[in-house]
Amino acid sequence: SLYFLAALVVGYLLGSIPFGFLLTRAAGLGDIRTIGSGNIGATNVLRTGNKKVAAATLFCDALKGAVAVWLFPADPLAAGTAVVLGHMFPVWLRFRGGKGVATGIGVYLAAMWPVGVFICATWLVGALLTRISSAGALLAFALAPITAWALVDAEHALLALLVGVLIFWRHEDNIRRLIAGTEPRIGKAARSP
Ligand code: G3P
Repeated sequence: SLYFLAALVVGYLLGSIPFGFLLTRAAGLGDIRTIGSGNIGATNVLRTGNKKVAAATLFCDALKGAVAVWLFPADPLAAGTAVVLGHMFPVWLRFRGGKGVATGIGVYLAAMWPVGVFICATWLVGALLTRISSAGALLAFALAPITAWALVDAEHALLALLVGVLIFWRHEDNIRRLIAGTEPRIGKAARSP
């Protein structure tokens, strides 16, 4: 239907706004794609040393995920998946975008807030214990589908499954480094891309 198509297109366009890239450049910190892991997400923006810009990136990337879901309340599955895809593959950056953690959190908070809160808590605890952002994020997003199934319904579990698969796929290099024991701790320099 037209509603479904609109959710996909608007979701994608919202997601494709590369806040990490834009805010880092606006703050005069350079091109985030040449810093640390090269990722445009908040974890990597923190590697510039500027906590405020990193926090703003986390907030804006999460907000666009939530806005997409708020705009299409009848189809969180389409809007939520599309906004995460837009963040990961933004046309403006030649389809080289982020990993979807903050945007996914925004989607979950808007579409199923108890699951969103659970994800935030799990990410925080996982990241604090390991001092590795990706480890906390992967743990949180792995647990999300079952949490959505238990707390909400099948459609929301499917949304969490789709977003989770995309996030794991985009963390391929992080997973390899985690296994090798070379994934950098939060705030520490990562190798250049
Ligand atoms: O939470 C984002 C993190 O999972 C990946 O970021 O820059 O460490 O690859 P980065």
